[in-house]
Amino acid sequence: MLQDCKIVDLPKISDVRGNLSFIEGGVHVPFAIERVYYLYDVPGGSNRGAHAHKNLHQFIVAMSGSFDVVLDDGLEQNRFHLNRSYNGLYVCPMMWRFLDNFSSGAVCMVLASARYDAADYIRDYSEFIAATRARLEA
Ligand code: TYD
Repeated sequence: MLQDCKIVDLPKISDVRGNLSFIEGGVHVPFAIERVYYLYDVPGGSNRGAHAHKNLHQFIVAMSGSFDVVLDDGLEQNRFHLNRSYNGLYVCPMMWRFLDNFSSGAVCMVLASARYDAADYIRDYSEFIAATRARLEA
């Protein structure tokens, strides 16, 4: 679970005119990309996330500035610092996450495997833990 969630090095075409990176669904991320959304103008000290997704796969990139993503699979937590636009963090389904430590001007881009679906969210931590235990015991 948590071991599947890794920082991925993206291709980087270095050029004196400016660098270029790219992401292809099914190649650099292990899913087809159905949606892109981004967080920006995040006030200092703000947190985002604090939920899990039942089925959604995501890939998070710091397009500008930096922030932390904390992932929790119900057994252990890992904090990832994202600060390069040629790195991204793959987040598998059923992973509680929150984002904090946003620098000023940070832009957090998220690639997702499905369109927005409120029913895919688990927003209550104790419900997440219960669902995780049920999966482990199944
Ligand atoms: P939410 O996912 O709760 O934000 P975060 O976890 O980063 O704090 O989304 C905030 C609001 O935006 C919520 O009302 C749902 C809406 N939203 C969409 O309409 N489409 C989307 O693709 C996303 C990610 C959120």
